[in-house]
Amino acid sequence: MPKFNNFRGSFPATRLRRMRQSEWSRNLIRENHLSPADFIWPIFIREEGLDPVITAMPGVVRLTIKEAILEIKEAIKLGINAVALFPCVDARLKSEQAIEALNPDNLICRALQEIRSAHPDIGLIADVALDPYTPHGHDGVVIKGQVANDPSVEILCQQAVLLAKAGAKSVAPSDMMDGRIGCIRQALDQEGFSDTCIFSYSVKYASAFYGPFRNALGSDKTLGKQSKASYQLDPANMDEAMREVALDIQEGADTVIIKPGLPYLDVIRECHHQFSCPIHAYQVSGEYSMLKAAAQQGFLDFEATLLESLMAFKRAGACGIWTYAALEAAKLLG
Ligand code: PBG
Repeated sequence: MPKFNNFRGSFPATRLRRMRQSEWSRNLIRENHLSPADFIWPIFIREEGLDPVITAMPGVVRLTIKEAILEIKEAIKLGINAVALFPCVDARLKSEQAIEALNPDNLICRALQEIRSAHPDIGLIADVALDPYTPHGHDGVVIKGQVANDPSVEILCQQAVLLAKAGAKSVAPSDMMDGRIGCIRQALDQEGFSDTCIFSYSVKYASAFYGPFRNALGSDKTLGKQSKASYQLDPANMDEAMREVALDIQEGADTVIIKPGLPYLDVIRECHHQFSCPIHAYQVSGEYSMLKAAAQQGFLDFEATLLESLMAFKRAGACGIWTYAALEAAKLLG
């Protein structure tokens, strides 16, 4: 046995491997934990008879309202207590003014009502944005070639009230218009929905990782190569992201969402340091599909990389995680 004389460090007195030796001691030094109750499961809703297959997201399908009700029952059994709904809207119903978004009998409102009555206690979250309803796939209305902020906010406020009336417990504005959180809060309060939460996509980067989501909603073709950079954040920016968070908290956001997730862990961490507010990480469609595709090729272990990525969000400072793999993860944790 060689004699070690490590004068500059505390070795051999300190050996970090000592606590890593066995399962019981590793369990005692674990700093973060994952639980199915951390997850928000995003679901794509479709009309009966339309195509369920999402080519770009293996393992994820568009569900009819009836199927969603059954799947949510499974999710609840696994300990998941929140779902977020995204409607796949028929191309014929899309219009420049996003009129279908304000139809009280539209697909998403029917889904909210039926899911609410089947599962009264589930955390039911509805997306606030116009992209499913506009022919170009932008999140707001386009006037003179620009996504127009204030006219969009007006429609978004009405949309949020409609979603709350239909049974959403939380609305999640993903549109990135300026000032929309304060306006939506005011609109909800005025209509008697002061208990409806706002989960704000405060930090939503203009990201190519949303590609498979747009494929799921059919907005990939309509949006084409157009970018959302005039309203979503520049991936180069951190300070601006923190300003968005500060504004949304001031305007009444109940939680802030940061997306994408894994490429922006530093943003989650920074937000956690600067603000004492609940943070959600969104593992977006492209992150999900990367893991799935690599696993299908046999390059990665999907289950292990999934749990590792989800844990990274907790470590960075998120308390909630939006993931398309919520059911798979919950089963693994089971
Ligand atoms: C649009 C919206 C997008 C996502 C959630 N809401 C895409 C976009 O901004 O074009 C992305 C989610 C994902 O990729 O999983 N309001």
